[in-house]
Amino acid sequence: MLTQALRDARRFEEEKEREITPEMRPAYHLSARVGWLNDPNGFCYFQGKYHLFYQYHPYNSHWGPMHWGHATSTDLLHWDYLPAAMAPDQPYDRDGCFSGSALMLPDGRHLLMYTGVVNEEQDGRMRGIQAQCIAIGDGIDYGKYEKNPVISISNLPKGSSKYDFRDPKLWQGKDGRYYAVAVTDNPSKGGGQVLLFVSNDALKWRYETTIMSNNERIGLMWECPDFFEIDGKSVLMCSAMDMLPQDLKYYNGNGTFYITGEYDKEKGSFKEESDHAVDYGIDFYAPQTVVAPDGRRLMIAWMQNWDTCNLHTPDVPWFGQMTVPRELSVKDGRLYQKPIREIEQFRKNRILHKNIQFSHGEISLPGVRGRCVDMILEIMPAGKDIYQKFALRFAENAKYHTAVSFRPHEGILKIDRKFSGSRRAIIHQRRAAVGCKDGGIRMRLLLDRYSAEIFVGDGEKVMTTTISTELSAEDITFFVDGSVYISVEKYDLVM
Ligand code: FRU
Repeated sequence: MLTQALRDARRFEEEKEREITPEMRPAYHLSARVGWLNDPNGFCYFQGKYHLFYQYHPYNSHWGPMHWGHATSTDLLHWDYLPAAMAPDQPYDRDGCFSGSALMLPDGRHLLMYTGVVNEEQDGRMRGIQAQCIAIGDGIDYGKYEKNPVISISNLPKGSSKYDFRDPKLWQGKDGRYYAVAVTDNPSKGGGQVLLFVSNDALKWRYETTIMSNNERIGLMWECPDFFEIDGKSVLMCSAMDMLPQDLKYYNGNGTFYITGEYDKEKGSFKEESDHAVDYGIDFYAPQTVVAPDGRRLMIAWMQNWDTCNLHTPDVPWFGQMTVPRELSVKDGRLYQKPIREIEQFRKNRILHKNIQFSHGEISLPGVRGRCVDMILEIMPAGKDIYQKFALRFAENAKYHTAVSFRPHEGILKIDRKFSGSRRAIIHQRRAAVGCKDGGIRMRLLLDRYSAEIFVGDGEKVMTTTISTELSAEDITFFVDGSVYISVEKYDLVM
């Protein structure tokens, strides 16, 4: 039943992975088994485990004909690689199995819906015709459905492009029916739009309504939609391409936004209330969410950015990692993110420094260092004038550091990875506007070998970046222009 293309991919990844030692990988973030990884796909809980698939090009560390890689986990931090789940091996997906999602059928079988791509030449350039396809399996091996594709251009409203129609996200509604959102480009309407499809059996689909059209408001084409209810609100999440900056709200390039609002099922209309970026750092794209067995809505994303991800040589044995999975909630129209609580069981060697006062200069604190770290930092002004600037530096030695700095008078938090080992002229800094009560701020740093994620306050803003700093750069220091009290609670993450 397995095609030659899939058997080849499985044999290749098994052999190639022997070249990669555990230390060459992140300690608790999922990375490509071998070769290249982009979007998370098919994030689900199936037969007692979380399954995560991913956009995958096993044969080298650059994007290429898309396969689906596969891994499982019980705690979302330790992952076991499974054999690649899909290869582009059918007439309707011969140029790629693009992003998609998963659900369990009533008979216990596992269903994947993905975008099949077939390239054709249009006006002298190659473009992919995209349609939604299904594969059904047992959690390891998947067979492609004989009636593929199940949703194609003929199902779409007028004006949609057959070239940009992708990334179905599935769920089962309370009414027992199956739903999927997917994106299309509608060039005459200024870019991406999110379409809703419905099905009684998850195999035969029909178009229901258009949930949102871009009209060039946030970038041009949209990718990887997700649509869910949480804390009494509906949330639409999408990744936008070719964005123009809007103050400190959205940045140039590719980024992910969410819109909260009310979805009226009867009318099929989404009344929006507020929109924001999901992550204000440098490397975050194409998130996907899942409901955990205990009811938490968890999100994981590709920890990269399309504008900065192609700068390595193809002989790198793996490229591409996922963010830490995050627990979501919504309050006052804002999405809050917290690292999954499972991570707390791997905290070791607690170091606590309370209300340490220092002024004008840099300090380090006993025991506060390391490269796999979970650290909570609270800063309060000391004296009558609020300090000008505070900076936290980590992954630091004489040559390298990555910094998060805060200017309370401007209410701006900045991440800067200029000195993190990058040899390229790419984006190294991003800024986020953060609320600031009298110069006080609280943040949590999750540091792994090749990334840093900073959660501000209760998780109302997050800044994520990859780093390529040598692992011996383990120092953590604090700098202030002015005078502050800081409290630091720091753990090693021992996986
Ligand atoms: C987003 C994306 C998706 C597509 C996939 C291809 O990063 O462009 O829209 O399905 O990557 O690998």
